Amino acid sequence: MAVGFGIIGCGMIAGFHQKAIADIRGAHVVACFDTFPSAAERFAAANHCTAYEDLGAMLADPSVDVVTICTPSGAHLEPALAAAEAGKHVIVEKPLEITLRRCDQIIEACHRNKVRLATIFPSRFHESSQQLKKAIDAGRFGRLTMGDAYVKWYRTQEYYDSGAWRGTWKLDGGGALMNQAIHSVDLLTWLMGPVVEISAKIDMLAHKRIEVEDVAVATLRFANGALGVIEATTAAYPGALKRIEIHGSGGSAVVEEEDIKTWDFARSARGDKRLIEKMSGRTQTGGGAADPSAIGHHGHTLLFRDVLKAIKNRARPSIDGHEGRRSVEIILGIYKAAETGRTIQLPLARDPVLKARKTGVAS
Ligand SMILES: NC(=O)c1ccc[n+]([C@@H]2O[C@H](COP(=O)([O-])OP(=O)(O)OC[C@H]3O[C@@H](n4cnc5c(N)ncnc54)[C@H](O)[C@@H]3O)[C@@H](O)[C@H]2O)c1
Repeated sequence: MAVGFGIIGCGMIAGFHQKAIADIRGAHVVACFDTFPSAAERFAAANHCTAYEDLGAMLADPSVDVVTICTPSGAHLEPALAAAEAGKHVIVEKPLEITLRRCDQIIEACHRNKVRLATIFPSRFHESSQQLKKAIDAGRFGRLTMGDAYVKWYRTQEYYDSGAWRGTWKLDGGGALMNQAIHSVDLLTWLMGPVVEISAKIDMLAHKRIEVEDVAVATLRFANGALGVIEATTAAYPGALKRIEIHGSGGSAVVEEEDIKTWDFARSARGDKRLIEKMSGRTQTGGGAADPSAIGHHGHTLLFRDVLKAIKNRARPSIDGHEGRRSVEIILGIYKAAETGRTIQLPLARDPVLKARKTGVAS
């Protein structure tokens, strides 16, 4: 099946989308659009597709079947709505959007227009994540007791200065959590199940000219009773690979980026030893720990394949809009808990009112 992709927003991550799509037989980037025509033209020239100066014109192009949205995080909604209304399938970069209301609008528009919607969380497709999920579903951890995510990354001041949207509440929607650690927040809730209670502290300690947090610590209770923590920062020089730890009465596993570091169960299974051997030394990049562009595109390829399969079979992509919304809700809960000093219960009935969004200061 030949499938045409249109890319909206021709910045840093758009290049990874292009590479990921090029790895899929029958899939091609056929069109692109950016509010800066020069960015779209540069991208089109490098990737042999058509640059559009008008989003409506790109969405009217019948060779575009699927759009991927690579605009700043708080500017995902408008192009997603336009694409859905034009009958295109929609794949949105993380976070799906920066408020629950904006996420829900995207979900509703895609549902109403009967197009598929997916959110990009490539780490879920890493083999280490798949193995963890399989072991949890098989009950190998016994009673799940702790689930932790550690994202101790480093972003230079130049990184935040490189785009006017970076580090703003309006377009980044938050800092170390909403932009960087969200991959791990998503993994944690996918693996451990829903979060029901949060207490937290956030702060901005090491950067200038940003409104959002560069350090965050949250304690969690999951619906299954287990406890956990999320630690996220962009102010830990030189930046370490992200880590997920899952513990239970019957076993422990630690995954660092794509490598399994600990895989220890009270009841070992045939294949455990081989798995540990196979799953070490797999991380081929810096994982974005210090350099946002030091990532691979393989996870994106697997995710796009999953969406194409869902389109073909009229099924749900593995990470649909509802899945994409989950991490946004947890992060908004963390912001509210940090701002009020109170324990916050999830699910949230609506978007929390955050003073920081109004004053532009993380607290
Ligand atoms: N999955 C990942 O690993 C990953 C990595 C990096 C970024 N991202 C996400 O991708 C998105 C973009 O990040 P980036 O680093 O590529 O940003 P960027 O600033 O490099 O690129 C954004 C591009 O969008 C364009 N743009 C802005 N508003 C637009 C609009 N309304 N319509 C069309 N184009 C518009 C800008 O001109 C710019 O060219 C963010 O949501 C970010 O969180 C995901």
